[in-house]
Amino acid sequence: MTTLYLLGAAALPVLDIAPFIEEAQGAGYDVCLGLTPAAARWLEPQLTGLERLTGHPVRSEYKRPGAPDVWPRADVALFAPATFNSLNAWALGLTSSFVVGFAAEAIGKGIPLLTMPCVNAAYARHRALDRSVAELRGMGVRVLYGEDGFAPNPPGERHPYPWHLALGAVREAVPPRA
Ligand SMILES: Cc1cc2nc3c(=O)[nH]c(=O)nc-3n(C[C@H](O)[C@H](O)[C@H](O)COP(=O)(O)O)c2cc1C
Repeated sequence: MTTLYLLGAAALPVLDIAPFIEEAQGAGYDVCLGLTPAAARWLEPQLTGLERLTGHPVRSEYKRPGAPDVWPRADVALFAPATFNSLNAWALGLTSSFVVGFAAEAIGKGIPLLTMPCVNAAYARHRALDRSVAELRGMGVRVLYGEDGFAPNPPGERHPYPWHLALGAVREAVPPRA
């Protein structure tokens, strides 16, 4: 099996992460779900079901020193949805959340990395966003933002999050092993 780490932050599409997991599994990936602490709070009522669906613990905290690894090794990781906060933290190397820490370290480990932000047009006008996107791309992360990915909407408007683009890009980056 090809292991996909799916890392999600606290933007509304994270509430619809279960159908995406099912699609990724249907495409041949073994999915391990990691969440920022805020996203884990939002998904609290679903966490048991998500663990059952993935067959792995859902992680939102660093493990304790000496604790065993509970996930198989990652073949590829997708950070989606990535908030303004998590994307900027990742680009700057601020690793207080487990999923951002994993993603930051994964750059150095050479694990194929993709991300699709979810930010409104007001956040998008803040200069930090373009800087972070450029930084991450410069470090080899495929950022699905703009033409081939997520396009910001006006604050308060909810449009469908293009999960299909994320799965397509993951399949392109690391096709599932037969
Ligand atoms: C209902 C709601 C929707 C939100 N949607 C977004 C969003 O789409 N993008 C974003 O960057 N932040 C959004 N936020 C703000 C983040 O949840 C907040 O910045 C949080 O601290 C992000 O933490 P995380 O990156 O660790 O998940 C939203 C907050 C709420 C309450």
